Amino acid sequence: MKRVLVATGGGDCPGLNAVIRAVVKRAEQERDWEVIGSIESFNGILREPTEIRVLDEHSVAGIHVQGGTIIGSTNKGGPFAWPIKNKDGSWEYADRSDEMIRKLQYLGVDAVISIGGDGSQRISQGLFEKGLNIIGVPKTIDNDLLATDFTFGFQTAVQEATEAVDKLVTTAASHNRVLVLEVMGRFAGWIALHAAIGGGAEVCLIPEIPYDLDIVLEKLKSRYSRGKGNAIVVISEGARPKGGSVVGVESNEVGYKNIRLGGIAHKLSHDLKKAGFEADMRETVLGHLQRGGIPVAYDRILASQFGVKAFEMVLNGEFGKMAAYRHPDIISIPLTDALDRPNFVNPNCDLVRTARGLGICFGD
Ligand code: F6P
Repeated sequence: MKRVLVATGGGDCPGLNAVIRAVVKRAEQERDWEVIGSIESFNGILREPTEIRVLDEHSVAGIHVQGGTIIGSTNKGGPFAWPIKNKDGSWEYADRSDEMIRKLQYLGVDAVISIGGDGSQRISQGLFEKGLNIIGVPKTIDNDLLATDFTFGFQTAVQEATEAVDKLVTTAASHNRVLVLEVMGRFAGWIALHAAIGGGAEVCLIPEIPYDLDIVLEKLKSRYSRGKGNAIVVISEGARPKGGSVVGVESNEVGYKNIRLGGIAHKLSHDLKKAGFEADMRETVLGHLQRGGIPVAYDRILASQFGVKAFEMVLNGEFGKMAAYRHPDIISIPLTDALDRPNFVNPNCDLVRTARGLGICFGD
């Protein structure tokens, strides 16, 4: 029996379970393959005792509908930077990649499918360079990987954000307020842009187009006459004013490298008030509601395509590669091509033009 190990790394994302299920279903057609899952990315392999579970048709039945990942995930540490606590309470990071590869050999693992974002795929590339038979599957709600037309999880996040706009519209209208919705996406404005168009916002502020506060102010004022009016602003967590910086905090969580973005909605309201905007404003930070819960059909389908493709890449020995969606095909590309090519919103792209055509103000 041959063994393929599946790991889910980085922040979770609607559709991860659909990928796992598709890998298992496709593998079962081969009869001489067994699928096992490592718990919380590669931590399951590195821990003593090892934390792995067999994934068969029973354990994956119906999971394509579930959010999260049945094998857990982590966006901290990893085989190249395993956190170790010193006696004095400080932390250092050990490279345990060789040890992990030896352990995978001992467990009889012939191939690994690593489902994760750019951080996880950087780890995949590092392990591939050390001789591991590894394949990547891209995931992120942010849709910020250029190598693939879409990542699964993104459409679910957009749906959630759009429904939030729909709800905010009615309460904004009832109270003559401006409601500001802060959405995720890190340094890519895709979720905000799609939700602003889908929900019908008046202002959309994204990282790729730093905003001029005065222009936002004028747009919002234009929505009011004799104190009556309302507006919706969708703002990306990574947005910033012209000449300003993003709002976020360094994380003090061990092994967590990213800056934790958040708070730009409140800053915007504060700055608009200071600049003389009179109408009431309220802020909503949508947060992890965009990441949890049931994946929309589109994400289940894309994730299933990635899962089947990933296992077929194992069969074909296409290691050091990642599955990618290039409409209408699912292709395989070298992991190195996938890394370092972020997908940011081009301010001149058609979708931005559509938004401008609808009267949406980007603050520029
Ligand atoms: O990359 C996905 C994402 O949800 C970003 O949109 C967000 O900034 C970040 O992860 C939040 O990460 P965490 O769950 O670790 O706070």
